Amino acid sequence: MSMSILKKDSPVPENSCIMYQREKRFAIIIFVISCYQLFFLPFQTTCMPKFNLNVNNKQYTVEAEADMPLLWVLRDLLDLTGTKYGCGVASCGVCTVLMDGNAIYSCQRSVGSCVNKKIITIEGLSEDGSHPVQKAWQKAGVPQCGYCQPGQMMAVAAMLEKNKKPSDDTINSAMSNVLCRCGTYHRIKKAIQLAIEEINK
Ligand code: FES
Ligand code: FES
Repeated sequence: MSMSILKKDSPVPENSCIMYQREKRFAIIIFVISCYQLFFLPFQTTCMPKFNLNVNNKQYTVEAEADMPLLWVLRDLLDLTGTKYGCGVASCGVCTVLMDGNAIYSCQRSVGSCVNKKIITIEGLSEDGSHPVQKAWQKAGVPQCGYCQPGQMMAVAAMLEKNKKPSDDTINSAMSNVLCRCGTYHRIKKAIQLAIEEINK
């Protein structure tokens, strides 16, 4: 009888004890998670995939997300900043490099797709500026601001690697892949002719 009176008159609800236990458990879980984040997460290393790349006849191993564009890898991870970033959407061609002898837009190729390929950038065209395209560019004084020129030279180098006596149509087609906002096209054409003469001597 006295028990029922006590329950009825008590200001504390009957299930408050259960609620208190739940809150206590919840607080402990939050505490444990916070401790984990505070003390252990900073020491965890992020596990990125590794890729072996052949760039300018040297072997590199880079850690990157598989879909990172080759252009990012060249510039940010390998410090090969000769290859330029223009549009990032395959519209300007200033990021052109050679892959297995073909001109490609490095902003459009993922690093994952470059394994077992031979990549050549403007830095790898020759060590001493003796490549016919480099010599011709120098002789014709092609660059104005210069930003597009690595892409222009790589596009021409790729064309000449396949065809040492390209027709006007072939030249125009190769040139159309890289834009020059300074309008140096007439000097580029002159340099291409000089390079053709040089490699056909
Ligand atoms: S930056 Fe690659 S095409 Fe423009
Ligand atoms: S030289 Fe300036 S964009 Fe081509």
